[in-house]
Amino acid sequence: MNILIIGSGGREHALAWKLQSSTKVSHIFIAPGNAGTKKIGTNLPIQVNDFDMIKLAVLENNVKMVIVGPEDPLVKGICDFFKSQPELIDVRIVGPDKNASQLEGSKEFAKNFMDKYHIPTARYQSFTKKNIEEAYHFMKKLKAPYVLKADGLAAGKGVLIIDDIEEAKKELAEMLGGKFGDASQKVVIEEFMKGIELSVFVLTDSKNYKILPEAKDYKRIGEGDTGLNTGGMGAVSPVSFADASFMKKVEEKIIKPTIEGIKKENMDYKGFIFLGLIKVGDEPFVIEYNVRMGDPETEVVIPRIKGDLFELLWSLSDKKLNEFEVEFDKRTATTVVLVSKGYPGSYEKGKEITVAEESEDIIVFHAGTKVSDNKIVTNGGRVLAVTSLGQSMQKSLENSYYMVDNISFEGKNFRKDIGFDL
Ligand code: AMP
Ligand code: GLY
Repeated sequence: MNILIIGSGGREHALAWKLQSSTKVSHIFIAPGNAGTKKIGTNLPIQVNDFDMIKLAVLENNVKMVIVGPEDPLVKGICDFFKSQPELIDVRIVGPDKNASQLEGSKEFAKNFMDKYHIPTARYQSFTKKNIEEAYHFMKKLKAPYVLKADGLAAGKGVLIIDDIEEAKKELAEMLGGKFGDASQKVVIEEFMKGIELSVFVLTDSKNYKILPEAKDYKRIGEGDTGLNTGGMGAVSPVSFADASFMKKVEEKIIKPTIEGIKKENMDYKGFIFLGLIKVGDEPFVIEYNVRMGDPETEVVIPRIKGDLFELLWSLSDKKLNEFEVEFDKRTATTVVLVSKGYPGSYEKGKEITVAEESEDIIVFHAGTKVSDNKIVTNGGRVLAVTSLGQSMQKSLENSYYMVDNISFEGKNFRKDIGFDL
């Protein structure tokens, strides 16, 4: 069977890497892919939001299943597009429909959903320019710091956490005035929660669900979680503080009501749910929903899944996920992300990369890379994610950092403290 993966990050390379081991998969296409996915299958020069070109590629290459990596095409309705095209009727697509994708595409939609299905989350209210005075009033009732969230997708930059109420008011006015374009026409203001964050992944067919390994990611550029936010500088799975009793609470209080809500709202959700959670005391709360896998979390979650991922994904359309058992590797996976000098600010591209030989337990996933004149060169802020599996987190990190030292490109930067808080 031929499959197509949409996206070009470490997440998509990790998915391709896993899916190539399925005996049912004959050829993997990746659009647009990177230098790492090029070694596994065929990269197609198609952008992730170009639905017409994606359709053509599916038909031309006899693709039977499409896996959507990033949120943008999902929120723009790629699954609905596939359903609307008679020629694509037999093609399976992994991802939620446009309505369900609002769980990530609109913070207000997600908060209202959580409210309706009694899913624990921070107290909130949403505002537009019209009721900004009410927003100021609402803020007065909250304790500092103030959490302001642009309603729509803002490439991970739409959340501001501000200590001073006057400054928060000023920011709110700027957001509603278009600071993040259309994404901040509406702003959700919520209570600040103090705790430790983790990411939990679930696969669902709208009826059944499977909980995948959880992970912790490191979003800040600087060691000790300081400095600017990035797409993610590293990840660890499993997460030591997410023990069995905590995960039971996550399942009962968050996952089950989420799946119940998906059913009741008649959402067509055949894909991954990524729960951004925070543990406050011993209780889990949802910070956000994402309707896809995380990056770099995928690079530690996917290598821990045993068995055939293709079969699981293929079963979603038939709503037969319940017929499968999923087993996990008990070892710890860690990934360290190598970034370009200057990232998350401006950075240069086109630097030649050399990588030492990989081994069974050390995998170098590509993110912002491409092949140019037969050389692998940097092509983005996040360049590579070096994943290792080990009997302990320490052992795994040793392996990842050993490999990191054996990779070179001009301006290579990375965090030396992944897992420091676990
Ligand atoms: P989000 O895009 O909603 O995941 O928010 C980005 C980051 O802001 C999260 O990963 C948290 O670190 C932080 N954050 C968001 N909402 C809250 C909240 N209510 N309380 C504390 N931290 C928050
Ligand atoms: N690592 C966070 C994300 O993928 O959104």
